[in-house]
Amino acid sequence: AKHLLGIRDLKRSDIELIFQTADQFKEVLQRPIKKVPTLRDTTIVNVFFENSTRTRISFELAEKRLGADVVNFSASGSSVSKGETLIDTVNNILSMKVDLVVMRHSATGAPHFLSKHINVPIVNAGDGINEHPTQALLDAFSIRERLGSVEGKKVAICGDIMHSRVALSNIYCLKKLGAEVTVAGPPTLIPKYIAEALGVNVTYDIREALNWCDVANILRIQLERQNMPLFSSLREYSLAYGVNRALLDSLQKEIVIMHPGPINRGVELSSDVADSGQSIILDQVENGVATRMAVLYLLARKEGAKE
Ligand code: CP
Repeated sequence: AKHLLGIRDLKRSDIELIFQTADQFKEVLQRPIKKVPTLRDTTIVNVFFENSTRTRISFELAEKRLGADVVNFSASGSSVSKGETLIDTVNNILSMKVDLVVMRHSATGAPHFLSKHINVPIVNAGDGINEHPTQALLDAFSIRERLGSVEGKKVAICGDIMHSRVALSNIYCLKKLGAEVTVAGPPTLIPKYIAEALGVNVTYDIREALNWCDVANILRIQLERQNMPLFSSLREYSLAYGVNRALLDSLQKEIVIMHPGPINRGVELSSDVADSGQSIILDQVENGVATRMAVLYLLARKEGAKE
């Protein structure tokens, strides 16, 4: 089975094919009837071992817009609490004739592990601090939509780089598409190896990053993934690294603001920026449906799904 486990595994041509396919689905989503029968007779399960608002709803809508049958599984309220393993859980669901699995898990590598034990496609909806491939695809798709292309654009990824699967998938995706990437944030939240390993620029000065970039993707502090605080307080973080109207107005140009959500308003991003015309945050969410339709269509179609 073919999977989407991470952007690291994709070629530039794969990403471009996903975007071209998403363009067509975005056009479908503007019609009064937003549904196509492309994955009729395909059954998809969304297996979420970690909380989600956007990703889960976006996948479910994408699946329903493609005409698939959809079932949703949440670890909370399931027999996971009785000790059932990941493989047993998923194999039991698959025995009910499911054709594709979308999975979010707090453990890095969980979908990669599962892919070795099941024979249907898996789409990674976020694994620990590793990758969130469909988020990076919808982010790059949204940059392409706003600025015409990703090639040659300067993108700053700001905040908690260390614990962010969005940052890693975005770096892989943007570099493959020919963008320049700078990561910015406190030294404690930026891995020391990142510049050498991934070919990005590093700065600990948020103003420098914002003055340099065309687009800034602002990330949430992932307190749930930190065993001990890596900065003094959220208030101090906000004062030193928060993006607000006064900071943006002091720059020499107008930049595009992105955020994957959920926003901690007043910490990494102020409301007068998040809700302004400079922000494409809700465009990102809208584009998530078309982008995920493209991913599901390309994977399920290759597995012989009916058209
Ligand atoms: N961007 C994102 O993954 O949001 P959720 O955690 O709400 O799915």
